[in-house]
Amino acid sequence: MLHRITYVSEATGTFGKTVLSIAQILGVSEANNRRDDVTGAMAIEDGLVVQVIEGSRPDVDRLLGRLRTDPRHTNLSILADRPVPERLFDVPMAHCHFENGSARLDLLALAEGQIPVGRAEDLLARCARGDDAPEAARTGTGR
Ligand SMILES: Cc1cc2nc3c(=O)[nH]c(=O)nc-3n(C[C@H](O)[C@H](O)[C@H](O)COP(=O)(O)O)c2cc1C
Repeated sequence: MLHRITYVSEATGTFGKTVLSIAQILGVSEANNRRDDVTGAMAIEDGLVVQVIEGSRPDVDRLLGRLRTDPRHTNLSILADRPVPERLFDVPMAHCHFENGSARLDLLALAEGQIPVGRAEDLLARCARGDDAPEAARTGTGR
């Protein structure tokens, strides 16, 4: 059974402020998630993180265990955790950037419960598929 988990957290230190800090996470995620057949996407804006991860229960739980103890972010709060019939994402970990001006996904509003989590997941999925250019740029490699 496939599970999808979406959480928000707060970046600490320089995480999200430098390209290198994001690239380091994407590099590790690419390798680990490919190995574990985990897919998803993340976005970091103004110190807030949203990430969707999909995979088998043991695999997403193992990843969540690592995420919960990673000092690069804090106050991890699960918005949704449920079994799903199919994946929304087909890459190990896409990185989505929502332009401040067009604010395609307002992470603060999401964290405060003003945006339905399904809407956030759909926006991330569109970004990961590359449907949203030029408002949202996509990085991450195919499977
Ligand atoms: C916001 C955020 C998202 C992350 N996403 C992933 C991920 O999708 N997959 C992953 O393996 N590690 C991810 N990490 C890193 C893990 O917390 C952890 O450092 C890493 O999995 C350890 O991998 P290693 O045991 O191979 O060194 C993320 C870290 C942060 C702060």
